[in-house]
Amino acid sequence: MADRHAQLSFDGNEYDLPIVEPTIGNAGLTIAKLRADSGDVTYDPGFANTAGAQSTITYIDGAAGILQHRGYAIEDLAANATFLEVAYLLLVGKLPNKAEFEAWSEDVRMHTLLNEEMKRFFDAFPKRAHPMAILSSATNAISTFYEDYHDPSNAKAFDESAVRLLAKMPTIAAWAYKKSIGMPYSYPNNDLDYVENFLAMMFSLPTARYEVDPVIAKAVNVLFVLHADHEQNCSTATVRGVGSSQANLFASVGAGIDALWGPLHGGANQRVIEMLQSIVDDPDASAKSMIARAKDPNDPFRLMGFGHRVYKNYDPRARVLRSYADDVLAAVGIKDPLFDIAKELEQTALEDDYFVERKLFPNVDFYSGLIFRALDFPTRMFTVLFAMGRLPGWMAQWKEMTEDPSTRIMRPRQIYIGDIDKEYVPIEER
Ligand code: CMC
Repeated sequence: MADRHAQLSFDGNEYDLPIVEPTIGNAGLTIAKLRADSGDVTYDPGFANTAGAQSTITYIDGAAGILQHRGYAIEDLAANATFLEVAYLLLVGKLPNKAEFEAWSEDVRMHTLLNEEMKRFFDAFPKRAHPMAILSSATNAISTFYEDYHDPSNAKAFDESAVRLLAKMPTIAAWAYKKSIGMPYSYPNNDLDYVENFLAMMFSLPTARYEVDPVIAKAVNVLFVLHADHEQNCSTATVRGVGSSQANLFASVGAGIDALWGPLHGGANQRVIEMLQSIVDDPDASAKSMIARAKDPNDPFRLMGFGHRVYKNYDPRARVLRSYADDVLAAVGIKDPLFDIAKELEQTALEDDYFVERKLFPNVDFYSGLIFRALDFPTRMFTVLFAMGRLPGWMAQWKEMTEDPSTRIMRPRQIYIGDIDKEYVPIEER
């Protein structure tokens, strides 16, 4: 096919915009030279219509509700793959064969310990510290032990740092939790697999034997797989943006964790449960009153776990989780009143014109928290669990960005609308 070009004309001038073709999905109009040619820039708050990169990692069709990693459907991966297999798929670009998978898992297993000096770091936080703050700080802090691995152009350093981050994140997350409940930190046990090890560090005590429940391990595995990557979302764009200045992988991932913490992004899973709980706690609140608040233009409240920048259909991850939540709750023998309220809220919203017109559907955060809760994770750990799942995606995107010869430091333009040429007035004359 001949190269396609778009023409843009304004102020009597014509501008040629070469088109970047996709495998599937939207093409991209290249506007990189528009300012040099015309003196003007494009305006796109939140970059809602701007592709910052070409990528081979994740494909989303938001209208159809399709999500694929390296060409594999998310439903297929959630049903069949382990989280470490998906991490390999994202990072290396293909599913590992048996020998590759064993070598890779063994490598991850060998790096689960934190440097013993990190213990003092955890001790220094207040007991009420949010675990997301600890997670991002600790991610930056461990970079100080590996300064020889900071050069982004060193592919071997990336491979080792990626394995270290993957291996140590469960230890950091579990220790952040232990800190919050005033219990001793548990060391990793390398006889266990990735998820089992994390569960043991979270819930074991030196005083009692802890057996990992396979139902819980499977559920956590599925949840991690469902969160593993989501193309250019806010935290991933942050990881790429920070990395574009050639900051090291640890610093870039730490920044991604901070971006994820916000309630409009990964922090929504904690907020969903708080919203559902507020309906239980307040006799005047109901699914209907929450919907009414979400629709009220004078109320900043939004229905948490609903709506998405890309999906204008049911989020495929939420679809998997909705039916999986039924199975998990039944398997662990829990009847959660919040689950019934969630289903009622979903039903009411999906029949409401406001939500129908705006194509607002449940997203991944709507049902994930209900499963995490059934597995005994405290609400404040939910976004940490999201971060643990998203880690391979952040690192794969960072690697792709670093290896892409067209990468430039991320530096958007602005349209200045402030004052100009004012004269400085001494403080006593103001
Ligand atoms: N409740 C009520 N109204 C909503 C909601 C909601 N949850 N989400 C969007 N809207 C309305 C919004 O007010 C706007 O209405 P109008 O056209 O009348 O101004 C319209 O729908 C379009 O919304 P938007 O804010 O332009 O959409 P966006 O793409 O900028 O924001 C979003 C996407 C996810 C931030 C937003 O839907 C939201 O705040 N949802 C609640 C928070 C949430 O669940 N976040 C998790 C996202 S999925 C997982 C992840 O990324 O972590």
